[in-house]
Amino acid sequence: MSPYTIVRLKNDAFSVRSEEHAETFHPVVGPVAEAEALYVEQLRIADRVAAHVGPFVVWDVGLGAAANALSVLRSVQHLPASIRMISFDCTLEPLTFALQHVDQLQYLSGYEPWLKELTSNRSVHATNGPLEIDWSVRLDDFPELIATAPPDSLPTPNAILFDAFSPAKNPAMWTHEVFRQLHRRMHPETPCALATYSRSTLLRVTLLLAGFFVGSGSATGEKEETTIAANTLDLIDTPLDGAWVNRARRSTSAEPLWSPHYRQEPLSDRSWEQLLNHPQFA
Ligand SMILES: C[S@@+](CC[C@H](N)C(=O)[O-])C[C@H]1O[C@@H](n2cnc3c(N)ncnc32)[C@H](O)[C@@H]1O
Repeated sequence: MSPYTIVRLKNDAFSVRSEEHAETFHPVVGPVAEAEALYVEQLRIADRVAAHVGPFVVWDVGLGAAANALSVLRSVQHLPASIRMISFDCTLEPLTFALQHVDQLQYLSGYEPWLKELTSNRSVHATNGPLEIDWSVRLDDFPELIATAPPDSLPTPNAILFDAFSPAKNPAMWTHEVFRQLHRRMHPETPCALATYSRSTLLRVTLLLAGFFVGSGSATGEKEETTIAANTLDLIDTPLDGAWVNRARRSTSAEPLWSPHYRQEPLSDRSWEQLLNHPQFA
């Protein structure tokens, strides 16, 4: 039996669910609406791609059933531009499963040839109208890959879609070390923003202590807030402020995960001090 199923959401959209993690990939408003609000709009993909010179590099962390990646590609298909998409996952099973359910997962429709090529060759080069696409997938344990891959083997990102399972179920993807390595892979002179669905204090402190600027992200359906992080404040509309820092000080779950084991703890004195010295608040 497949470890994945298709679930129908309250608004009648369909989404893939991992039975092993007991988590639905896009649980609130469905794959397309969530990907558009959380990643495409919030990361200002179309405007940034239109203004960009050379290939615009997107890191799609957690390829899954490719809803986020395809939403990004769809949003720029009218532009004379070049996109380099690198998807990361430790398995192609959800995508293979999704391709057997295109009737329900309509966002895949029309993209089957590319997705089949991606699953068999791990890369696809295509043009879609004026858009040039170079899409590859790295099939590895992401925390291990990002800690060990030679610098030149991963192109510097302009945007990152960060979509792992939740920190409680998938803690290895949410450690301070993972975000420190992500920040290290950015180039100070290449503006880059990362969006993710969690708004937890733990995650936001982790991103700040890993070197990012951090803001509250836009709503997606019932989720009234998400998170955006970047290597420049220019890409963040609503940066976290002093009131948020004071709430973090009182939170019972704010200390970053220093190891891949989920637990909840208030801020340590050391983390508090680092937070106060962060350039966003100092
Ligand atoms: C919520 S799903 C991603 C949904 C996907 N973004 C989409 O649009 O359909 C989370 C994905 O993270 C991947 N993942 C979890 N742990 C991982 C790890 N250690 N390394 C790489 N990928 C991982 C899972 O295999 C899964 O496909």
